[in-house]
Amino acid sequence: MPDPKTSSQWIELLKLASEAREFSYSPYSHYKVGAALLTTTGKIYRGCNIENAGYSSSVCAERTAIFKAVSEGDLNFAAIAVVTINGGAPCGVCRQVMREFAPNLTIIISDIEGHYQVLTLPDLLPHSFGPENLPSIQNL
Ligand code: THU
Repeated sequence: MPDPKTSSQWIELLKLASEAREFSYSPYSHYKVGAALLTTTGKIYRGCNIENAGYSSSVCAERTAIFKAVSEGDLNFAAIAVVTINGGAPCGVCRQVMREFAPNLTIIISDIEGHYQVLTLPDLLPHSFGPENLPSIQNL
């Protein structure tokens, strides 16, 4: 499933995100989030949100999945599916982390009843800042 373009592929990825959501550690917000990240080679990394008594130490489901992939040497992403109770969209920090690795990432957002929408990162983060905006080492 290297480049999901059909609804059946999106639904398959959403199912994995939904399963990941069950592992959510969210005793403070009780807002469970699950993500499934598809790499361009077809590998899938799942993630959930992991909260902390020191609230700012919490991490979102999307970043859990992305950091799992990057920490395994997988840096090329085709799509990410995200499931919440009400179809909430990824937060701004997660959008910026997605931007680093996959400026044109496909993002499938769903509620737990399967109502989903397919977006792209430029939809969610227009006029974004990325690696190419930084001056190269040679120019410093
Ligand atoms: N959360 C995510 O996991 N992803 C998002 O993009 C939005 C927010 C989590 C963070 C926190 O654990 C809970 O949802 C409530 O904000």
